[in-house]
Amino acid sequence: MNHINWLKYREQFKTFENLNYLNTCSLGLLSDNGRNSLLNYIDTWTNMGASAWYSDWISKTNALKDEYAKLINADPDEIAILPNVSSAIAVILSCLNLTDKDEVITSELDFPTIAHNFKAQESKGNGKAIIVESEQMKYVDSDKFISKINNHTKLVVTSRVFYLSGFINDYEKIMNSAKKNNALFFLDDYQATGQLPIDVKEKNIDIMISGGLKWLLGGSGIVYMYVSREITKQLEPSVTGWFSHKRQFEFDPHTIEFSDTASRFETGTPAISSIYPAVEGLKMINEIGVDNIRERTLKLTSLLINGLLELGFSIKAPDDLHDHASITMISCSNPAEVVETLSANGIIVDHRPGSVRISPFFYNTEEDINHCIEILSEIKNQKPDLF
Ligand SMILES: Cc1ncc(COP(=O)(O)O)c(C=O)c1O
Repeated sequence: MNHINWLKYREQFKTFENLNYLNTCSLGLLSDNGRNSLLNYIDTWTNMGASAWYSDWISKTNALKDEYAKLINADPDEIAILPNVSSAIAVILSCLNLTDKDEVITSELDFPTIAHNFKAQESKGNGKAIIVESEQMKYVDSDKFISKINNHTKLVVTSRVFYLSGFINDYEKIMNSAKKNNALFFLDDYQATGQLPIDVKEKNIDIMISGGLKWLLGGSGIVYMYVSREITKQLEPSVTGWFSHKRQFEFDPHTIEFSDTASRFETGTPAISSIYPAVEGLKMINEIGVDNIRERTLKLTSLLINGLLELGFSIKAPDDLHDHASITMISCSNPAEVVETLSANGIIVDHRPGSVRISPFFYNTEEDINHCIEILSEIKNQKPDLF
């Protein structure tokens, strides 16, 4: 690992003055740079009104695409900005002209907004939704997934990291099978980009989505959709808007001529207020380097898991932690109560059905992890039935 002064980065996050924050997979923290940038946005709006579009806001939007493209080794023209994953998948589905013979596939461990969009389209006769079952909600057997892909398959969507278990999915095997069957492959990378390195060119990915909310430290309102240049040429959306038009500023209501770039998948005006902190989040991740981040979070995660296993907690994790991201689930009969008790002790984590979810990032320390283990151990001693 390059020598990184982790404490210098931690000082950028004032949340740690009051809290032991271990919940990045729900929401990444706001840095001082992000906060100042957000305040700067307010100043541009206050001082310039609409002229801020030309002086600042358009160039800030371009800077966002540049920073994100750098992170995943893409070209900025291959990035579309959308408000959330739900609208991104709706736009992609609208490109496909599905019939009732076509099939679209995801798994029960993928974020449910994908399956919801598939089901909503299915109810209108646009494709059959196939939801692959998981192995005890921990991971998806890639051979089982692949067995569902055939020449009726038009779209395959899965994640690199499962939000309910932290397991790293063998998405490449699934992607290769999708491509062999001429289906489009869409990687939901929301829980991976920023904590695990990715190079979309090297991996030959068609479409990849990730967002600012979690591991990219940008807050809500922005997702990044990478669509390779080759795939962009092949797709025309019907869920669309004026930002997708090749000649957007001619305001021509008589034509819809799509941009040659990934902007063809954009819809309307983006949330400029969200773009400001999002740029700062990406800059910090790029400056540190995701390889370094992964090395650090792997250390913190193994400290956490080994400590919890020694105390007899039941953990969802693979034997080899190289197959695990920085999301650890502890089985629990009343996770909301445990999360509340931890919160009363200044420790912020989250819960999902049947589990407490702990997700350290590079700004956490060994002390944060040990503190969390210590309080969990006290809770377990007082109320063993909870675990
Ligand atoms: C893997 C994954 N995909 C998507 C989302 C969010 O979807 P949306 O942006 O539509 O709210 C989340 C959020 O928790 C997620 O973990």
